[in-house]
Amino acid sequence: MASDRIVFFDTTLRDGEQSPGCSMTTQEKLTMAHALEDLGVDIIEAGFAMASEGDFAAIATITQAIRKPRIASLARAKTEDIVMASRALQFADRARIHVFLASSDLHLEYKLKMSRAEALDQTAECVRLARSLVDDVEFSPEDATRSERDFLVKMVQVAVEAGATTINMPDTVGYSTPEEYGRMFAEVRERIPAIDKQGVILSAHCHDDLGLAVANSLAAIHNGARQVECTINGIGERAGNAALEEIAAALYVRGDRFGVTSGINLSQLYPCSQVLGQIITFRPSPNKAIVGDNAFAHESGIHQHGMLANPLCYEIMTPALVGVAKTHLVLGKHSGRAALRHRLEQLGFTLSRDELQHTYYRFVALADRKKNIYDYDLVGLLPDQIRERRQEPISELA
Ligand code: KIV
Ligand code: ZN
Repeated sequence: MASDRIVFFDTTLRDGEQSPGCSMTTQEKLTMAHALEDLGVDIIEAGFAMASEGDFAAIATITQAIRKPRIASLARAKTEDIVMASRALQFADRARIHVFLASSDLHLEYKLKMSRAEALDQTAECVRLARSLVDDVEFSPEDATRSERDFLVKMVQVAVEAGATTINMPDTVGYSTPEEYGRMFAEVRERIPAIDKQGVILSAHCHDDLGLAVANSLAAIHNGARQVECTINGIGERAGNAALEEIAAALYVRGDRFGVTSGINLSQLYPCSQVLGQIITFRPSPNKAIVGDNAFAHESGIHQHGMLANPLCYEIMTPALVGVAKTHLVLGKHSGRAALRHRLEQLGFTLSRDELQHTYYRFVALADRKKNIYDYDLVGLLPDQIRERRQEPISELA
């Protein structure tokens, strides 16, 4: 029986780093690892020890500085990778080796030139080797979602028998759909009773090529997955990985649907996203859920009026919940009088009905010409007699 706690496995420093503009120095990875520790992730995949000296050094450094989360290194199903991963992890209080080997015929035939039988032998051998070095071993059948189902089940069974403690079934190319991905978890769990008997954790790892990574991860949770692999701001190969902040917020806001818990400190979601944005070469798009600049911004008059009456009208969570300072009522051509009056009052200007009406016409004419309206623009619209009676502002000009 699956517990109700979701293990958050963050792979920002490994899968996330594997994308253009995201490579990080050891120092930058360490800064990010501290932010992830504050966020409360359970496992940090710090890199791929065999990939480069830099990755090895980053993993080793992180194991010595970070104490709360378990630290993982990726390894191909090869002796040298697994030994290298265990060396990089030698100072970790709690270490995990994450072994992967493709399970789809496409990858086996064209990429690895390996038969199915060879792949099963290698799985057993490598998982056993990893288990002889650390007590926590994750196995991933790469491209699980495009693998023939009976063979996938066989490979997972072999990995479980060899001692894997977590089985991660990645949607490596972001091909699956929520219903299909969820069903795969239900089926594998049903066909391999040892998973529940031995307390093996099933894990979701989704890429966003069809924009379904978060939906697929949530479907997996719905079907018994108890670990999710994700990255901050959803960075990762191609279109990215499932965004940690979206999964964590969805599990909390829609707790009625999922009924699970996690160790994520939601108020660190935005700060953590900001730390990453300062390290890599790009920030999340403005309309990115949870952490984008516009995630808590409202421009249209109808929405602003609703927000001022009761924020629940247009916000399903408070900005404070995820560590964002406040809601922004952005003034633009769709804004109404209520929002204009509200902002002017914050800036220290109280207007009569007629004055507001007059200012509002001038404001709309300006907003038709200008994409962003700043406080200075608003003050510029006011006649001298209003400016002269300015009171103590609640908010400074921005
Ligand atoms: O997407 C993928 O298949 C991976 C594996 C290495 C887990 O990142
Ligand atoms: Zn991946």
